[in-house]
Amino acid sequence: MTEAAVFNPVADGFAANPYPHYRELRDTDPVQEHPLGFWFLSHYDDVTRLLRAGLSVEDRNLADGPVRAQYEALGADRAPLVASMLDRDPPDHTRLRSLVAKVFTPRAIAALEPMVTDLVDASLDRIADGGPVDLVDELAFPLPFAVISTMLGTPPTDQTRLRELTGTLVRSLEVVTDPDVIRAITEAEIALAEMTRDIVEWKRANPADDLLTALIAAEQDGDRLSDDELIAQVLLLYVAGHETTVNLIANGVVALLANPEQFDLLRTRPDLAPNAVEELLRYDSPVQQTRRITTAPLTIRDRDIPAGSFIIACLGSANHDERFWGPTADSLDLERQNAHRHLSFGAGPHHCLGAALARLEGRLAIGRLVSRFPNLALDGDVRWNGRLNLRGASSVPIRG
Ligand code: HEM
Repeated sequence: MTEAAVFNPVADGFAANPYPHYRELRDTDPVQEHPLGFWFLSHYDDVTRLLRAGLSVEDRNLADGPVRAQYEALGADRAPLVASMLDRDPPDHTRLRSLVAKVFTPRAIAALEPMVTDLVDASLDRIADGGPVDLVDELAFPLPFAVISTMLGTPPTDQTRLRELTGTLVRSLEVVTDPDVIRAITEAEIALAEMTRDIVEWKRANPADDLLTALIAAEQDGDRLSDDELIAQVLLLYVAGHETTVNLIANGVVALLANPEQFDLLRTRPDLAPNAVEELLRYDSPVQQTRRITTAPLTIRDRDIPAGSFIIACLGSANHDERFWGPTADSLDLERQNAHRHLSFGAGPHHCLGAALARLEGRLAIGRLVSRFPNLALDGDVRWNGRLNLRGASSVPIRG
């Protein structure tokens, strides 16, 4: 009998390519009770079922316990960090999501196309002007950041500092045991909550036709949104708005450059861009995992998972499960018919609210880059950000 693989994100080569490791897990122990105390699901069907089951998302961050202890030691208030829709169950989840849902409908997002096109083209002009440039610094990061800042109506912000802080904050979505990292996450959370508070205060004095003003109005309305929830929602939109899409654009371009025949296909068939984005989301998922807590005993395959268990649903693995995708699961195929069935935006009640926006940004950024720079090539080594969950390229040197 083959020995079962154990989920091990510090294994050699995992950061650059976790997919062979996921395959071993799917083949040997698809519903894994991990020695660190959580469960790990790697099959497409199991992950889909779990996410649709409406399990709890409260207190589900792996770093929550140690980070909470840090807050207590510092006498700081963590409420603004855990009050967003992402980490709340109904009825709070339903109320919070409905407050912003109308801004993110496919129709509302389609209206942003001219604004996003202008931002993409400004980035592409900078790439055309310079010598070798970094795709992450010139396009993959600044584009989603500018788009969400414009939608929210935030004042000009110290982008470098914010990028550093949000990069640290998202480590709380991973298994973290290193006390230095835990301290850094806590400090970043506190600093971000303060920055968000300042931004909200500024907006109170400078209201406009934007999402932040609408949220402030909801808060002033009485019991629709508490003060902590307001800060948490804004921070979530800020972080979710750019820390994920950056990976779609950067990882997507890396994948296309590694598959030159697919790059050429997209260049000659720009009409493929929407499906190309779905396939790139499937091929290298910008968010690799999500987490749920069971509220009652749950049986998956032949395994009984007790109530109160912590389960990691591995989206990256589900997106490569050959039982669902067939023998070409590991290949990039921009013409794949069912590419849109990937789980990169999750599924069920917490399905990504920003999916239409991410698709728009991905289509315009990748589509326009490929058609404007037919000879696009790497100009050095790709560096990975070393994160397990929001895994992506942190540096992609290119030349047009
Ligand atoms: C939720 C992925 C872009 C806003 C989620 C979830 C995933 C995800 C997997 C579900 C998490 C869970 O079930 O625990 C992505 C990916 C993106 C992206 C891969 C880009 C390629 C965006 C953007 C925004 C956004 C651009 C907004 C500006 C949200 C929000 C939620 C969410 C608000 C929480 C929904 C809820 O809890 O009901 N996203 N996201 N996302 N995403 Fe995205």
